Amino acid sequence: MRLKPGHIAVVTGAASGIGLALCKALLAAGLTVCMLDIEGEALDRAASKLGGTLDTYACDVSDPAAVTRVADDILRRHGRVDLLINNAGVGGRIGPMAALPAEDWQWVFGVNVLGVVNGLRAFVPAMQARGEGHVVNIASMAGLAAAPFMGPYVVSKFAVVGLTESLAAEFAATGSNLKVSVACPGNIQSRIREGERNRPAALRADSAAEPAIQARLEAIFEGVMQAGRISGEAGATRILAGIEADAFYILTHPQETAPARQRLDRLGAALAA
Ligand SMILES: NC(=O)c1ccc[n+]([C@@H]2O[C@H](COP(=O)([O-])OP(=O)(O)OC[C@H]3O[C@@H](n4cnc5c(N)ncnc54)[C@H](O)[C@@H]3O)[C@@H](O)[C@H]2O)c1
Repeated sequence: MRLKPGHIAVVTGAASGIGLALCKALLAAGLTVCMLDIEGEALDRAASKLGGTLDTYACDVSDPAAVTRVADDILRRHGRVDLLINNAGVGGRIGPMAALPAEDWQWVFGVNVLGVVNGLRAFVPAMQARGEGHVVNIASMAGLAAAPFMGPYVVSKFAVVGLTESLAAEFAATGSNLKVSVACPGNIQSRIREGERNRPAALRADSAAEPAIQARLEAIFEGVMQAGRISGEAGATRILAGIEADAFYILTHPQETAPARQRLDRLGAALAA
């Protein structure tokens, strides 16, 4: 969709990283931005440095009732939502997946997958009723090719890709005019490796991975996270360009597509056989 001044945008995970950069760019384009984040104080601090028309909401996207309450308020105040960006996400712990506690999976799935579902359930019916708008789910390159030792994250991002493909098929089957995109960013400057601070106390648990192996994996992963990293602003610019072009798959790192291509080649060969 073409972004226009006066459009109403909703962005989750808006206090930091990609979400904050998206909000800055949307505000600069004259949109009204409703910013949601689990960290209410950080969100208000970040928002106080932004110009433009915005609202902030402290909201845990993994809580369906909380997201619905926020959506009701936004729809009551603004009457509509033009652009919904389900961006909030957490990285989860690095480690051999069979050694990770159930709580790691529950936390990452609650935010990365059910957070997106909660956003859809809360906002899409009103967007459907108006017959206009664009839904954007932020997945990851990790949702297109499976990297090792980040099991919950990889599985959650494959789920977001599958969910968005299914949603697009629903829109096509019902003749809906709503647009839908899934963004699959590569490495972008953010606080994603500090996400543990937002893990609920009830979902804290130790990994069964051997500490020395864990430390080595963390060190390797730090290196992986530096490769090809771009700024939040550059990432936001590429994502918004994809939205304006109505691209279904939005990529931010076109030079880093080899793992996804190799996966598709393997799948293609298996399908052809
Ligand atoms: N940074 C990258 O390299 C990268 C690459 C691919 C995909 N992504 C995805 O981009 C999205 C944004 O991540 P980021 O890299 O900007 O990280 P970030 O940690 O800087 O920002 C994430 C924001 O989400 C908020 N958040 C966490 N749990 C929440 C919850 N339960 N409810 C509401 N808000 C919550 C955090 O407080 C934070 O402000 C995530 O979905 C992430 O998986 C990031």
